[in-house]
Amino acid sequence: MLPLSILLCITTLAQAQLSPSPTFNPPPPDAGTTPAPRQTIPNQQWSNLLGDLLYFYEAQRSGQLPSDNRVSWRNSSGLQDGDDVGFDLTGGYYDAGDYIKASFPLSWVLTSVCWGATVFGQGYDLANQTAYLDEMLRWGLDWMIKANPDNSTLFVQIGDDAIDNNYWGGDTNIPTPRPSFQVNDTNPGTDATAQASAAFSSCSFLYSGGVLNTTSSATAPTGIANQTYANTLLRHAAGLWDLSVHASGGMTEYSDTVPATADAYASSGYGDDLILAALFLSLATSSPSTYQQALFYYSQYKLSGSNGVLNWDSKAPAVYTLLAEMALARPSWAGSNLIGWQKEAERWMDGVSSGGRGGAYMTDGGLLYWPGDSDSASLNPALNAAMALAHYAPIASTSDKADTYTNFAISQLNYTLGDNPMSAVYVVGINPNSPNRVHSGMASGGNNINAIDTDPNGPDLHVLYGAVVGGPDNKDRFWNFRSDYIESEPALDYTAPLLTLAAYSVMNNPTDPYFTALQAGAYTLPPGHPCDDAWPCHSGLSEGGKIALGVVISVVGTVLVACIVWFVWRMRSRKR
Ligand SMILES: *[C@@H]1O[C@H](CO)[C@@H](O)[C@H](O)[C@H]1NC(C)=O
Ligand SMILES: *[C@@H]1O[C@H](CO)[C@@H](O)[C@H](O)[C@H]1NC(C)=O
Ligand SMILES: *[C@@H]1O[C@H](CO)[C@@H](O)[C@H](O)[C@H]1NC(C)=O
Ligand SMILES: *[C@@H]1O[C@H](CO)[C@@H](O)[C@H](O)[C@H]1NC(C)=O
Ligand SMILES: *[C@@H]1O[C@H](CO)[C@@H](O)[C@H](O)[C@H]1NC(C)=O
Ligand SMILES: *[C@@H]1O[C@H](CO)[C@@H](O)[C@H](O)[C@H]1NC(C)=O
Ligand SMILES: *[C@@H]1O[C@H](CO)[C@@H](O)[C@H](O)[C@H]1NC(C)=O
Repeated sequence: MLPLSILLCITTLAQAQLSPSPTFNPPPPDAGTTPAPRQTIPNQQWSNLLGDLLYFYEAQRSGQLPSDNRVSWRNSSGLQDGDDVGFDLTGGYYDAGDYIKASFPLSWVLTSVCWGATVFGQGYDLANQTAYLDEMLRWGLDWMIKANPDNSTLFVQIGDDAIDNNYWGGDTNIPTPRPSFQVNDTNPGTDATAQASAAFSSCSFLYSGGVLNTTSSATAPTGIANQTYANTLLRHAAGLWDLSVHASGGMTEYSDTVPATADAYASSGYGDDLILAALFLSLATSSPSTYQQALFYYSQYKLSGSNGVLNWDSKAPAVYTLLAEMALARPSWAGSNLIGWQKEAERWMDGVSSGGRGGAYMTDGGLLYWPGDSDSASLNPALNAAMALAHYAPIASTSDKADTYTNFAISQLNYTLGDNPMSAVYVVGINPNSPNRVHSGMASGGNNINAIDTDPNGPDLHVLYGAVVGGPDNKDRFWNFRSDYIESEPALDYTAPLLTLAAYSVMNNPTDPYFTALQAGAYTLPPGHPCDDAWPCHSGLSEGGKIALGVVISVVGTVLVACIVWFVWRMRSRKR
């Protein structure tokens, strides 16, 4: 008989497919002000960035936390999730600065990260982060599996904004009830089920050891392959695809079926989700006929010709990018239409990299800005565009275009990492000039919803390492006010595109990321407040919220800066 210690050891090994080696814990922000010891691939500072970004997802975990949880200030929470419907819906991730769990944006996060890892997988390896990537994906996917308990049901949200947004505080007191909202065969949510199917397919492809072999440098992360898991994911992908196209209730947007989701994540259509789902399912199942179905929907939903934004809701640009990649990776399916798909992709890429088309423009400081979408989170559309450009540049039709796309992607990455008029580094904890008053109830340490900015009256109690915040306004100004959920809230989907960009950078860039050039004090609070130009600030987005005024005296360096007006919106967390 095996000694108990060996049995325990085997049990532990069976749970974690990969063991982190070495263990990574985010270095303090000051570590982001010095050059890496060696300007070689991999550069330690880029590796640290990738590590921090993955750590953010660990801080956002819901459910029973395992013993190897690195985020010491987090507690197990949401342990009754699903009780109202008789299912175990514990686990998964809190979506943003609040305690809602939302499957539609999470599905896009998982899709984009798995997609990126089938091209830039080596970046995770070089940074010693593949084990953490595996954990990050599984924590999301294992919950998505629970959220899809049978072939006709997908849970799309746990928790109700109407309740949740009246709460500000830690994870031991999360308000209840936390209702579980679903779409199903009779009351479908085509976008939600299709996007979830895409998440399962893209990640099944990754876990089957798949590589999107558009160029010889495309790689999968070492050791992540697990055919058992890939098969489980594929079963869910196939079931959700069937539900998306054959639901007896027809096709409709999930936010119409479940109005409670419309507050934060109202969807504007499902054509893009269907196409993305069919493309990834065809990859995961090696099915040319499913690929043909994607093309059928592509023409049915007239996806061609868009200059629109790429984000959790709007995925036409991702479809263009993936179609061009697949023309190389699966040439016989695409009927040699590489040139056609390059044209479609390059129309969008040219628009973006020439400074914006379709209403988009560049801010004076150099951020790609889509009025509307960028108004509620300015960095996210720019980073998603940069992610698509990083995927596409290596397969562009000319080397000039490849250079243009790469440079533009890097310019948006640089902006995010401090190359902006504020010298703000928009990743929490990576540099002293990173936001330190983040709109996150659990990280702030405060619990007074009427004094979010002043309780605590200083930096957050816990550093939410790796969180990307909403970002500056269209004049490149950023205030670092905790109450300002537009500029200062973190979210799963804000950090996601940066994962792919960081993995890409670890593989390709021997020199330091921009932030190492920035010493403490480079960022200073701008004068005024976010509402100088439009009072009341963000009013179009807040729900008739009452505005309270207060005054805080703030000293920055030796300068007595200003009176700050703060606002108490009825705490609605995510407005898009
Ligand atoms: C593969 O994944 C399954 C399902 O998560 C897990 O039970 C198993 O331990 C994994 N296999 C290896 C070799 O890690
Ligand atoms: C990765 O781990 C190896 C072996 O422990 C170590 O030599 C190397 O410096 C690590 N690389 C990074 C980027 O952390
Ligand atoms: C976790 O629990 C401890 C002990 O009750 C508490 O002090 C801490 O604030 C909790 N963490 C959060 C994020 O609420
Ligand atoms: C199907 O979903 C709708 C909308 O969420 C819900 O009202 C209904 O109860 C669900 N049906 C079943 C059988 O659970
Ligand atoms: C659910 O869908 C999957 C994939 O289409 C299929 O293999 C499985 O048999 C279905 N399960 C049931 C109970 O119908
Ligand atoms: C990618 O692999 C497939 C086979 O799986 C092959 O047909 C295709 O030519 C490869 N593409 C490239 C660009 O190497
Ligand atoms: C990005 O920043 C690096 C310094 O970190 C600089 O060398 C590079 O030229 C910048 N690239 C672009 C396109 O802005």
